[in-house]
Amino acid sequence: MLAMAQNDLLTQTGPGTPGGKLLRSYWQPISTVEEMPVGGAPLPIKILSEDLVLFRDDKDRLGLIGLHCPHRATDLSYGRVENGGLRCLYHGWLFDINGQCIDQPAEPEDKKFCHKVRHTSYQVKEYGGVIWTYMGEGDAPQIPAFQFLSAAPENRLAFRVIQDCNWLQGLESSTDPSHTSYLHRMGPGPGDERSGADARLFSEDTRPRLAIESTSYGCRIYAMRKMATGENYLRVNNYIYPCGTTPVTELPGVAGYQGRWYVPRDDKSHTRFEFFYKSRVLDKDAIRAIRDQNVGPDNRHIRNAANRYLQDRDEQKRDDSFCGMGRYIPAHDAFAIETQGQIQDRTQEHLGSTDVVIIEVRKALLGAIKHMQDGNDAPGLLRDIRENNFPDFICASDYIPDGEDGPAYCKRMLGQGQNKVAAE
Ligand code: FES
Ligand SMILES: [Fe+2]
Repeated sequence: MLAMAQNDLLTQTGPGTPGGKLLRSYWQPISTVEEMPVGGAPLPIKILSEDLVLFRDDKDRLGLIGLHCPHRATDLSYGRVENGGLRCLYHGWLFDINGQCIDQPAEPEDKKFCHKVRHTSYQVKEYGGVIWTYMGEGDAPQIPAFQFLSAAPENRLAFRVIQDCNWLQGLESSTDPSHTSYLHRMGPGPGDERSGADARLFSEDTRPRLAIESTSYGCRIYAMRKMATGENYLRVNNYIYPCGTTPVTELPGVAGYQGRWYVPRDDKSHTRFEFFYKSRVLDKDAIRAIRDQNVGPDNRHIRNAANRYLQDRDEQKRDDSFCGMGRYIPAHDAFAIETQGQIQDRTQEHLGSTDVVIIEVRKALLGAIKHMQDGNDAPGLLRDIRENNFPDFICASDYIPDGEDGPAYCKRMLGQGQNKVAAE
């Protein structure tokens, strides 16, 4: 349970808030590169309670500027891409990728007024199949080069989906190892979308032993389950400052995992980015086909609150799924977090011992906010390209011998230079 002031600190992210300042200190993903093809239309973007528009100018350079024209507020995402910028449809004002007004065709020709108008704009960069922005003060840090971003294009894939609740609910679902045994429990079925995970690994021991420890980039999370065979099944996942996770590992022996980033749109909705990574070539068509069955072209889940997540109680009775909401796991998570309320009231919750990870990640975030309020840099920021690697990062799933625990396993793997998951 949190005090109301703590819940506010963690969930309020608009301009001027401490939480917003923390999130603005890092690059944040705003769209996939696929959504911004050369010659494509401008894209409205809502992030951290600001309305912006992402566009490519007629030289294909990316720009991110305020959505509403500084003249009289018309939506610039409907504008024309021409003459070195984005032109507003109302009176024709033209803005370059830096937000500078470069033409006001209805004004006198001396252009004096035009040069005085500079619209909101933020830096943008393409990296890892995603377009990122830096909305903070001062020099931008590095975008962290995790494998799901830095691997060759054939080994990675990114999507986004909009969810109707505060960003922290998304992050907390992604760092919570124990819900997997319930919310996502499924009977065997064709076309299992668990991306390598195996239902058996979660349903045989529904009381995982959990541990968490600090790392250079955030926290490492351990969940260990005892299998009926007597084996100990360990999953090592991660929280990454400030709003990232790597919640999904492949099966033991398969090299790959998934990343997530939970970026506030405002305090009552967020964009969840999902990153797929494998050391072998991804079957992108298969991953896309599953997504297209479950997420509309508007980047919203087809199962949603308005249709009660299409819950099917017969499916529950047959034990096809615990939740009766199909086999697409992100839809289960969307149900769980959106029904907590748009901003969960954490003064009313009752945390148990398996919420240790939730408690520790909140502490890490509150500590990060305090650290910044004391005048320090945000934690885990990478200022030097030579530091942009993660020798203590490991995201893996494995069977470990009796007597070994998660930290000892990681020490052994890292000692062997296997901070990347074992090769197939
Ligand atoms: S409102 Fe955009 S040019 Fe007038
Ligand atoms: Fe989940």
